Amino acid sequence: MTAQGSRVSYQQRNKVESETLRTFKAERPSEYFSHLDDDLAAFKAYDSQRENLYRFGLTFPPEFFNNKSLIDLGSGTGEATVSLARWGAICTLVEMNPDALEVAKRVFSQHTNNFNQHSFINSSLYDLDLDLLKESFDISSSSGVFTHVADKAKAFGILASLAKPGGYVLYGDRNTLGGLQEMLQRYAIYQLGGQSDEKIVEIAEILFSEDIDRSQRSVARRTRRAIIFDRWVIQQQDDPSVNEVLTFFEQEGLEYVSSWPRIDFPGRGNSVLSDPRNLPALRDGARLIESLWMVLNKGESENILSCNPIQNNEKFYDQLEVIGESLRNHQINDRVDVGQLIDKFIHLGSSVTTNNAILSERLEQFSLEVQEFLKMIEASNDPQDIRKRIDSFKILFRGYTGVRHVDYVAFKPR
Ligand SMILES: C[S@@+](CC[C@H](N)C(=O)[O-])C[C@H]1O[C@@H](n2cnc3c(N)ncnc32)[C@H](O)[C@@H]1O
Repeated sequence: MTAQGSRVSYQQRNKVESETLRTFKAERPSEYFSHLDDDLAAFKAYDSQRENLYRFGLTFPPEFFNNKSLIDLGSGTGEATVSLARWGAICTLVEMNPDALEVAKRVFSQHTNNFNQHSFINSSLYDLDLDLLKESFDISSSSGVFTHVADKAKAFGILASLAKPGGYVLYGDRNTLGGLQEMLQRYAIYQLGGQSDEKIVEIAEILFSEDIDRSQRSVARRTRRAIIFDRWVIQQQDDPSVNEVLTFFEQEGLEYVSSWPRIDFPGRGNSVLSDPRNLPALRDGARLIESLWMVLNKGESENILSCNPIQNNEKFYDQLEVIGESLRNHQINDRVDVGQLIDKFIHLGSSVTTNNAILSERLEQFSLEVQEFLKMIEASNDPQDIRKRIDSFKILFRGYTGVRHVDYVAFKPR
């Protein structure tokens, strides 16, 4: 579905909602720490990761939440929201799964000291009384929810309408290309006979146990079943591209503020004269970034190296430094040896020729592995056999298996 055309019937919306509810009642996807024996230690680790995200990733710091009214749509068990309450936000949690909301109440009573100031509404986000609630929150937020609903455009409209003019909208969800490998995983699981919850669990454990192990070791320590239900059992999983999200913002009169991971292309002008909200530039930059998200599997350092066409080229950087120094603080009476300066540029040019186009090599390798994988799924119905081949891949389904989730901040002008 695209941002523009949304004509979803009430029946269709209800059908998706009841299927989503069934899956997430069976396994709650947002239990990151509340189910663990070492709840407090796990909570602290998760809470500190939330601070990292907001302070350093989104640059929307915890102090900003103090005394702000905040509504969170599809809060799940409230584990991702409780940090915002601890930073001073007065929260209204909206969640259609009553079991998840009960856990949220427990989480809030354990980890905040002003439980009674927060509200918990058991409702679909579509059934909120907007006449009552619209434009009444400093911050409206929703994360990991719209990807599971039938009418994203309508959900966005609701989210945007809840924020006051001059307020902020926080939105997080999976990304189309960043989540492409996960879609390939779904395809394989269903093709190989994953037609019931238990069969999906069985096949996922054979094919993608490495991916599940990695997720379990992360700060959000979900159970294996919760991970499998959230990735492959859930049926409605329609991940928007960055461009679709930017279109939603535009349609709702919101202005892009920041995101994590960043969608801003590093080459954009960022002097005080440039407009950080320049939509065409954001849209273009995002397309490059998304192709990177699709193939990333080793995390942070790779993020930089994959973009870098001159990786490992110390000679180039040394030469660049020499050039920078040679004209630095150039003054009226300074003499320049033009021949030497030209030589320096010749050196620079020749040091770039060590072409190490990591990103294009990776994209090519990724494409080859996907082709091989698709042929294998056609030819074999033995998951063990396919797993052996997956283990020989370099990129596909290895490590992080793509950058799946993106968080955005938008501003609602006065
Ligand atoms: C993947 S969880 C995310 C939970 C939480 N926002 C987080 O980031 O941890 C998705 C949640 O959205 C809820 N949800 C899905 N559709 C909804 C709807 N139409 N109205 C309200 N909640 C919904 C689900 O019940 C589930 O708890």
